[in-house]
Amino acid sequence: MPESERIANQISSLCVGFINPRYTRSKLLTDPLYDGVYRELELSKLPLLDIGCGLGILAMYLRERGWMNPVSGFDYDGEKIKRGETMVSRGKYADISLEQGDARTGLPDHHGDVTILDIMQFFNEDEQTALLAEAVKRVAPNGRLIIRSGLKERNARFFVTWLVDVFAKCMLWMKAAPIHYPTAEFFQRVLESQGFKVEIRPFWGGTPFNNYMILASRLE
Ligand SMILES: C[S@@+](CC[C@H](N)C(=O)[O-])C[C@H]1O[C@@H](n2cnc3c(N)ncnc32)[C@H](O)[C@@H]1O
Repeated sequence: MPESERIANQISSLCVGFINPRYTRSKLLTDPLYDGVYRELELSKLPLLDIGCGLGILAMYLRERGWMNPVSGFDYDGEKIKRGETMVSRGKYADISLEQGDARTGLPDHHGDVTILDIMQFFNEDEQTALLAEAVKRVAPNGRLIIRSGLKERNARFFVTWLVDVFAKCMLWMKAAPIHYPTAEFFQRVLESQGFKVEIRPFWGGTPFNNYMILASRLE
């Protein structure tokens, strides 16, 4: 059995409830997100803060790939945090903590790498600016801020991204509907003003979404 399938089976088998196992397995098998983030973090020795962690799938995925640095997940959806904690304990994963909190009103203390994956669209532009400012404060000198976000562009991929986010809200999988999609120029402007250099690359793999990876590291 391919390693990707073993990991998808393992993590989805830990899920609580009926929909989550199927959704989680299919997401792990089809979305390049977790493997892509793992490749960026692979050589890091720093702890990770995952803002908007949901169930904490990234943390569990990293453990399955043998990445053992401490991971703190932070999400405002208390139900997901509870389910995620059950999964972490069922999987006997060490050094993963999940905390409930609203990223619009503050972030946990942290010094290391930071991820923000697929949550920017739930914030308005001022909140996005404030979130990035708070996130970069938590990036260690040799660490990085790793973001995945749909970018606002005039193309069919962007339309599909928006449609699926609205659908997720209608299905109650997300507590909120998308409010505002950032542009590449926004990330460049805000992160460079904080003393970071920015690299942006397509990150949709085989999916129909307009997702990009935004990598920010401190200017030397
Ligand atoms: C599309 S999910 C992504 C989950 C996870 N990052 C992943 O990729 O597996 C977006 C997550 O952002 C969380 N979220 C949205 N607004 C938030 C906020 N203001 N503070 C903390 N988490 C938030 C949602 O609860 C949801 O779990």
